[in-house]
Amino acid sequence: MRTYKLLLLLPTLLLALFSCTAQKSKNTTLKDAYKDKFFIGTALNLDQIHGKDVQSVEIVKSQFSSIVAENCMKSMYLQPEEGKFFFDDADKFVEFGEKNKMFIIGHNLLWHSQAPRWFFTDKDGKNVTPEVLKERIKNHITTIVTHYKGRIQGWDVVNEAILDDGQYRKSKFYEILGEEFIPLAFQYAHEADPDAELYYNDYNEWFPGKREAIVKLVKTLKERGLRIDGIGMQSHLGIETPSLEEYEKAIITYSDLGLKASITELDVSALPSPWGTSANISDVNKYKKELDPYKTGLTPEAEKVWENRYLDLFKLYLKHQDRIRRVTLWGVTDLQSWKNDFPVRGRTDYPLLFDRNYKAKPVVQKLIDLTK
Ligand code: XIL
Repeated sequence: MRTYKLLLLLPTLLLALFSCTAQKSKNTTLKDAYKDKFFIGTALNLDQIHGKDVQSVEIVKSQFSSIVAENCMKSMYLQPEEGKFFFDDADKFVEFGEKNKMFIIGHNLLWHSQAPRWFFTDKDGKNVTPEVLKERIKNHITTIVTHYKGRIQGWDVVNEAILDDGQYRKSKFYEILGEEFIPLAFQYAHEADPDAELYYNDYNEWFPGKREAIVKLVKTLKERGLRIDGIGMQSHLGIETPSLEEYEKAIITYSDLGLKASITELDVSALPSPWGTSANISDVNKYKKELDPYKTGLTPEAEKVWENRYLDLFKLYLKHQDRIRRVTLWGVTDLQSWKNDFPVRGRTDYPLLFDRNYKAKPVVQKLIDLTK
């Protein structure tokens, strides 16, 4: 009699068990789903760092295992005047990461953009000598990396030094010091924190000329006994560019050098681009209505295409999980994304995983399901 009753209850019990498991998998977060694959990160802006944007902060805490500062660690903010360092914002950023046990990335030590003018000029506004610039680079890097020694796990040491055709960018660093500024930067960073991972970070690293120049740079650094752990592939991507094949080739090429590739600034624009995927931030284009077609929301078709692009990218990342250290989104919600103003100012773009109401887009659950 008792067995008979139990048998009657069996379907109900199974249903309860099933819905419990289904519920559990639905509640899994990105960082849990990707725990054994690679870090899944996001960039933080000042409102998030200072806890003002409460809703974003909740998302960051629950969904992401790594953080990077979107702006506040760039040289114009960390050393606005020579010898006067401003660490308040960056300190808060690092405290947030530590409190939440995150993999913390420093972005960035040397970049031609968002750099203060004093860095390269003397009191008459003329270029400083190579010796002076070398000293300034040393002081900048040593002071910052020492300040965060043992607390920041990886540094974008040099950002965007190579152009799409493989030539060196004619930045002030290059103009005054030549290619030498790059090995010097890696040397100073390593001396200040021998345990920190060090990366070279750039955009469009799948362009053949750029790719080969980065390979050459890595080989030069290694030949000189300098530490380099990874190549940061920014990945401000479009729906169609780059092709998955060329993107994959770059991931494989860099990791075959004994490095890890990191996807460091991922966003996928849903809007037409006036020109490919360059992230050269001085190239801002004039607003045109036809470049801003989704003011009030994506059409279901456009959303599907955008979602499939994300799924294809993450399938690729999962396929190469052994080669990839981290996948970091460049922001939390569409509301805060720099893509609303780049490469055309004042558009409405949809590049990130959370919408303007802080809601996870359907793609988030699909990205979680990909890991099963
Ligand atoms: C961007 C920020 O998102 C913007 O807020 C800022 O106005 C300009 O810089 N490549 C990089 C990032 O390495 O630091 C840039 O971030 C985007 C392109």
